Parts: sequence; structure tokens; C-alpha cells
Amino acid sequence: MTQPNAPKPWEHAKSGGDSQADDLAARFVESISYDRRLYRHDIAGSVAHARMLESVGLISADDLTAIEQGLREIESEIDTQGDAWPGWRVELEDVHMCIEAALVEKTGDAGRKLHTGRSRNDQVALDLKLWIEDAAGQLGGMFDKLFKSFVSLAQRDGRIVMPSYTHLQRAQPIVVGGELMAWLSAFDRCQRRVAALRTVNRRNPLGSGAIAGSALPLDRDHTAAALNVGSPTPNSIDATASRDAGLDYVYALSMVAMTLSRWAEQWIIYASTEFGFITLDGRYTTGSSMMPQKQNPDMLELIRGRCGNVYGSLVALLTMCKGLPIAYNRDMQEDKRHIFAAHDVVIDCLDMAARIVATTSFNEARISDGLDRGFLDATSLAEYLVTKGVPFRTAHQIVGAAVRLCGERGLDKLSDLSAADVNALSRQAAFDGEPWGDDMHDHLGPAGVVARYQSSGNAGLSGFEAQLAAWVSRTEGQDAKEQTDPS
Ligand code: ARG
Repeated sequence: MTQPNAPKPWEHAKSGGDSQADDLAARFVESISYDRRLYRHDIAGSVAHARMLESVGLISADDLTAIEQGLREIESEIDTQGDAWPGWRVELEDVHMCIEAALVEKTGDAGRKLHTGRSRNDQVALDLKLWIEDAAGQLGGMFDKLFKSFVSLAQRDGRIVMPSYTHLQRAQPIVVGGELMAWLSAFDRCQRRVAALRTVNRRNPLGSGAIAGSALPLDRDHTAAALNVGSPTPNSIDATASRDAGLDYVYALSMVAMTLSRWAEQWIIYASTEFGFITLDGRYTTGSSMMPQKQNPDMLELIRGRCGNVYGSLVALLTMCKGLPIAYNRDMQEDKRHIFAAHDVVIDCLDMAARIVATTSFNEARISDGLDRGFLDATSLAEYLVTKGVPFRTAHQIVGAAVRLCGERGLDKLSDLSAADVNALSRQAAFDGEPWGDDMHDHLGPAGVVARYQSSGNAGLSGFEAQLAAWVSRTEGQDAKEQTDPS
């Protein structure tokens, strides 16, 4: 083992002491405290690199065997010992040097050949891409869990009629499931955004070296194929200078966090006494230390609050990159802090959201109590008049006057108006005819209205049932896949 104050194994040109001689400098430069979670990806990259070196004759078959075996041993040691693995030595700075030093200890000169034609700059660029690919897969699984929770809630409570809101003012009647399907649409887009990153970022940076590539006959297609990461990156400087894969991922995470936060805000409002639309499970609320009656929606609030952490990671990464000359700069070591932190927050928030959704119920009695307020059926009445030949703009005017008339007479509902009232208002709006028909009342009242929407994707009954059917078959397909997939 290298002694704590021995020179770093790769610092032979330096004179005048090294960063270990100053405690703060040693702590300042290290990334091992957070980049050790790349170890599996680092080892996968090293195995592919070693195989390539052997295939082009830069190392012998015996060297390759020793390297592969040594790396496998190291991997299983870290798997079992985790943070307690003795190879984590802060004086070696990062995951790459710790693993390489442990390999050299096990294999001698074979291990000393592994870094042929490679730099930590192309190594870390690859490790991060491989890690992001796995992380994105884990995120995809979390979305599936959330989707199932929304679907089961929609099956339970989806047909309850509720008001919808624009500007947080009452708009039109919908069914609960119409709104639940809206969240599913938004989260589905988030999942697709994450999945789409694979096609953008699947390129192999290995073989770019520190900045300029290598004079050795490296076969970059060989490593790309071994790692299943598409083709080699086309430019060695860009490959080591770019953190686009990390930025894309954290942007995609920010969109998830933003959508989660928006949903959380909606449900915080719905859980308030003023609304009372939903009841949250006791596991996801907490009491107050002073006010005995409180049931605060803390988990939802924390989902909303942690969105700020994820945005912070995105802004930190963007800012980190904006002033960098084109090539590797040590600033880029910080990327992993932000990428890992954003990932961890979003994974936790998605999991928490899935649990909350699965255990929440909509309060039908409370919601229907207030349905007569707010003239939710006004648009439906205007559309009824359109079917009687009234131009929409005129219909809008007539129904607006009808709402005003209700207000003047102290009536809560448009259905309290008579045929004569509506026909008189139509004449005042200069409509030549009597649009009132006996069927007008079928178009009034929230329950009637939600049954009449017919445009595809609507938030009433027909739209909800169609969207739900698609989601049920999608999530049941997931179940079938999980049962047959041994992993
Ligand atoms: N731990 C470093 C990082 O994450 C590895 C690269 C160091 N490269 C260098 N030339 N000093 O960025």
C-alpha cells in the first residue's frame, strides 16, 4: 500500500511537494467520497479497454487474463465491502486511481499496462455515460410504479364528477379520472424524454485520451462494440470536454421534478379544508408540535420543495460549463455531485409519489356538494345553442347574460332559468329564432355535461374511459413483462 505521504503514483514530473502535503488541498482535490459509486462502470470500461489493447497486440493474452481477473476480484470486494473497501484511499483522489492502484498491487506489471492509450479524461467521460444509462433505466422503473398507482386510483375513483379549474377559478365539469389521466400524460412524456437520451448520448469516448487521442493503434470500434455504446465519438477534444450527457440527464430530471412539484401543489390544495377533495393516508401527513388538530401534507410539500434542489443541480452544471476552455478542466469533476444528487432526489420523489397516489381517496360527497356553484355548465349551454344554429360568439353572449340574470335573481344554477328567459336573452342578443328546446336541460348539470363530451382526449367520461383502457393495457403489459423477465 502507498503510504499516505508517498508521492502520488502518477506524479513524477512535479517538484516541491504535492497536494497530500496540505490537508485541505488533499480534501479539496479528491472526488473519491462521491465518485466511488462509478466503480462498476469504471471496471466495465477497463475490461473493454484491456480486451481492445490485447486485440491490437499492445498487451499479451496473459496480461489480459491477469487484468480481467484482478478487476473482477476488485469488483466483488467492493460489492461486499462497500465503503469499507481498503482500496478507497483519499490520497489517490478518485475511483479511477483507487481501482488502478489496487489492480497494480494484485497484478504488478500487467496492471501497470492498463492505462495504455487512456487518460482519466476519456475514462471518466465513459464511466459517466454508462452510469447515466443505468440510472435512466432505474428511473424508468420508478415511472412504471407511479403509473400503476395512478391507474389503480383512477379505477377506484375516476368516475366521480368534479369541477375543473383554469386560473384556479371554476371552469367546466370533468371526472376525477380525466385529471388523473392528465398527470399520466405528463409523466409519460417525462419518461419518454429520459428514454430518448439513450439515442443522443450513445457514443464511446474511450480512445480520446487526455485531449488529442493517441499515437498507439487503438481500435475504438472494438471498445464501442464491447461496451454496446454505439459508435466512437468523432472528435477527441469534444469527447473529453463535453458534459452534455450529464446536462441532458439533469434537464430531464428537472422536468420530472417540475411535474411532480406541480402535481404536489395541486393535491396540497385539494387536501386543504377549503377544498376537502382528497384524503391523504396518515403515513404521508404529519402533525404539528403545537396545534393538536393538524394533518399537514408534508410529503407533498417536500416533493414540491426538493424540486428546487434539482433545478439547483441543473444551474450548477450549466454554470460550471459556461466558462470552460474546450478540453478537460478540473471544474468538471464537480459534475458528478450534481448529477448524482439530482438523480437521488428524483428517484425518492417518484417513489414517494407512487405511494401517496396509491393510498389517496377522492371524497365524492364533499366534491359533489359544491358542484352546483360556479356555473360549470355554462360552456355546455353555449354549445347546446350552437347545435340550434346560434353562432358561437352570440351563444357566448347569451349564456353570459344568463349567468348575469341568475346573479340578479339570486339563482345558483342555469337550469333554474326558464325557456322564456333563454329565448328572451337570445332576442336581446339579436338572434332571430327561439333556441330553447325541451332537451336543453340534458345539457345542463355537471353529471349530464361530463357524459356529453365527445372530442377525443376529453376529460369527461368517454375520454377518461378511452385513456384508462390504454393505460390499463400498458401497465398490465408491464406486469406480464415483470413476471417473465428474470432480472
Ligand atoms: N476525478 C476526475 C474527474 O472526475 C478525473 C479526471 C482527472 N483528470 C485530470 N487530468 N486530472 O473529472
